[in-house]
Amino acid sequence: QAKYRKDYQTPDYTIDEVDLDIRLQDHQTLVSSRLTVRRQGEHNEPLRLDGEALKLINIELDGEVLSEHRFQVVNNQLQIDDVPEAFELLIITQLDPANNSALEGLYKSGGAFCTQCEAEGFRRITYYLDRPDVLAVFTTRLQADKDKYPYLLANGNKTDSGELENGQHWVSWHDPHPKPCYLFAVVAGDFDLLEDSYRTKHGRDVALQLFVDKGNLGRAEFAMRSLKAAMKWDEVRFNLVYDLDIYMIVAVDFFNMGAMENKGLNVFNAKYVLADAKTATDQDFLNVESVIGHEYFHNWTGNRITCRDWFQLSLKEGLTVFRDQEFSGDMSMRPVHRIQDVRIMRTHQFHEDSSPMAHPIRPDKVIEMNNFYTVTVYNKGAEVIRMLHSLLDEQGFQKGMQLYVERHDGQAVTCEDFVCAMEDANSTELRQFRRWYEQAGTPVLSITESYDASAERYTLHCRQHTAATPGQKKKQAFHIPLRVHFYSDSGELLKLTSDELKNDILQLTEEQQDFVFEKVKEKPVPGLLAGFSAPVKLDYEYQEKQLLTLLAYSQDPFICWDAAQQVYLQAMKKAIAAGSPVQLSQASLDALKHKLENQQSDPALVSLLLQIPSEESLSGEYDVIPVADIHRVCGELKQLLASELEKELKETYSSCHPQGAYQFAPTDIAQRMLANTCLAFLANLKNPEITALLERQFSKADNMTDELAAMQAAVHANHTSADNMLREFAAKWQSNSLVMDKWLATQASAARSSTLDSVKQLTSHGAFSWQNPNRIYSLVATFTHNLAQLHREDGEGYRWLREVIVRLNSSNPQVASRLVTALLQWRRFDEKRQTLLKQELKTLQELPDLASDLYEKVEQSLQQD
Ligand code: ARG
Ligand code: ZN
Repeated sequence: QAKYRKDYQTPDYTIDEVDLDIRLQDHQTLVSSRLTVRRQGEHNEPLRLDGEALKLINIELDGEVLSEHRFQVVNNQLQIDDVPEAFELLIITQLDPANNSALEGLYKSGGAFCTQCEAEGFRRITYYLDRPDVLAVFTTRLQADKDKYPYLLANGNKTDSGELENGQHWVSWHDPHPKPCYLFAVVAGDFDLLEDSYRTKHGRDVALQLFVDKGNLGRAEFAMRSLKAAMKWDEVRFNLVYDLDIYMIVAVDFFNMGAMENKGLNVFNAKYVLADAKTATDQDFLNVESVIGHEYFHNWTGNRITCRDWFQLSLKEGLTVFRDQEFSGDMSMRPVHRIQDVRIMRTHQFHEDSSPMAHPIRPDKVIEMNNFYTVTVYNKGAEVIRMLHSLLDEQGFQKGMQLYVERHDGQAVTCEDFVCAMEDANSTELRQFRRWYEQAGTPVLSITESYDASAERYTLHCRQHTAATPGQKKKQAFHIPLRVHFYSDSGELLKLTSDELKNDILQLTEEQQDFVFEKVKEKPVPGLLAGFSAPVKLDYEYQEKQLLTLLAYSQDPFICWDAAQQVYLQAMKKAIAAGSPVQLSQASLDALKHKLENQQSDPALVSLLLQIPSEESLSGEYDVIPVADIHRVCGELKQLLASELEKELKETYSSCHPQGAYQFAPTDIAQRMLANTCLAFLANLKNPEITALLERQFSKADNMTDELAAMQAAVHANHTSADNMLREFAAKWQSNSLVMDKWLATQASAARSSTLDSVKQLTSHGAFSWQNPNRIYSLVATFTHNLAQLHREDGEGYRWLREVIVRLNSSNPQVASRLVTALLQWRRFDEKRQTLLKQELKTLQELPDLASDLYEKVEQSLQQD
């Protein structure tokens, strides 16, 4: 079942044209596919087409019906022997989209038909060469009931349409750009349509169409604005211009992932399209902007230039995430976005690196491709691109991009091709840098220093080490750009010089390396890894005094934020080691007070640096995770900050709430962030004054950001108002499922011993459904991140999660596979929990019909036991 990157071979045949005729019906959709096939190279291999869960109705080769003995279907492949050099193949298959609960291939979402083909879903629509290096020109004719499905959409431009008897109608589409089948899409349904247009810098007028469920037009406007901003931004910053006369986005309720970049016809999870002040938080708006950008940017990095094979996924995803991150940063609040991206890396990606499923950004071995749409391929992939950007700087990076596009437009290429373009455009070599594509795991960068006052010499001693990951025992040194700033004790930025320091960057290439700085008059405070310049763990023993200097004076927002995080981490780790309550020094508390009192300059950053590390990220500091201790110290630290900073938190809360009606504007967002962070701390102080604050904000808020923040603050602090708020919220929002997702998630993340019971009960609430991934992620996936409640000592959390996974194994394996992640890391827990976890994994392993998605992860986890 496993496939290996090293086994890549060019396809024996290719397809130049595809002509699809799809008659849409709930249970008996007919797909006629006319393929223009051509042999590649000299060989007598049979033609083998991929196909899964298909009912084959008919095959004709060059107009002649193929009799049974001319073909066979084995192992999800249709094999035809003795085919000519070039020929036309007609294949008719029948599908049951209404019963397709896996949401892969053609399925029904609400009342609409839609498709999800990446990575290997097209083979569930028709027999095909389902691999990304087969590029064909697609023509699609759709036919369906006109009343139920007034809109019939496919890739490219609309070419014709017509009416038929018995209420049916048809539309045909042609996409002039050759593409792999994973970018194919169709949608049929009844929608509200938001229309606009965009004129490219080449003077092309592009019709922009956004399709949403009826009644949601007002909630689509922000997405449309974001789309236009993304089109403009890609022209200005990357010189990349749109290439069709129409760009369509459809928002659907049932979707396994965020969104999909199908050529000219993006399909989106509704939660990344619909947003208005009443129902969406500031963060929801920012997510819409970023996902709209992401899918749009794929038009060049993904569609025009695509992947040769799926091992190269990061070629398009890492690069496109980098691009969407830059887009968000250029649009607003760059430091906030950067810190949020770093948080994802440190909590989720580092966690994945230490798990049985650890893999390089370009994996070597895959059983189920759907398992590799990971934080490693996406987010670490983006960090790798970001390091290239740091090493080459914006100008050099853009030169590389232009060469990449010139060379490879219209091709299916590899990560290697991308790196070569970067090298050639900059006349440089990145031989060692390629190890970031080859080796899995998080490098640990250990740094010590020495200072010789009489010689005025300061030295940084750097050592890098990367622990073994499954299948990769010995790691070689990475090429690491280490961005550093230096400060004096009183906080002035120092200019240290060294031949090896360029643009604040030291390049580490050895396992051990010293960097010497001469003429250094005082021992500096080093701000290491500024901007999180590489996806590594930094191991440097910061003294509290140094951290407070960086917290107060660092001009790099990441360093400033991280200094606060290190203060918290040190205090919590110390309390765990000593088995004593968490304490913070007066100096640290004063430093935080000072930040609160001077928040005006950057309220968003102050908000972020007050927020303590999550239980999950504290877990990352331990080989064996002390569940109860972690839960204890996180609670204590919140309580401590709340009582020690009460006065400043209250003052800040009342001074920094934006005046007037809600606006989605950076200054307002930043103020809401800080006010709500203060409120979350204050909720831990159970006094009447604060109860009044909480309840007032909850009932008076004119926007979801503040309304939800009040409810979350109450629930997370176990406040007496919590249950009432939950009740009122549900009564108010019961008809809006995306808002109810927030209600589910808030309860699943509660730190109560009753949380598991509530979560179980909520599965029979009207707001929940086992069919809809958004509901499952909100309730179940959120619960899996609730460290203390999932990892209950009695194993009930594990048992319930396993039952959920068993259920989803048959209905939606992709979702099941995302949830199982929480069980894989049994090695990181005490013996009792190890036994319990392994027991659940073994139960899963023995399921008679275990989906490949789960099989791959469970096997990998139980191996080497
Ligand atoms: N290419 C899509 C995106 O990044 C995600 C597709 C996910 N597909 C999957 N089978 N997991 O926007
Ligand atoms: Zn993507």
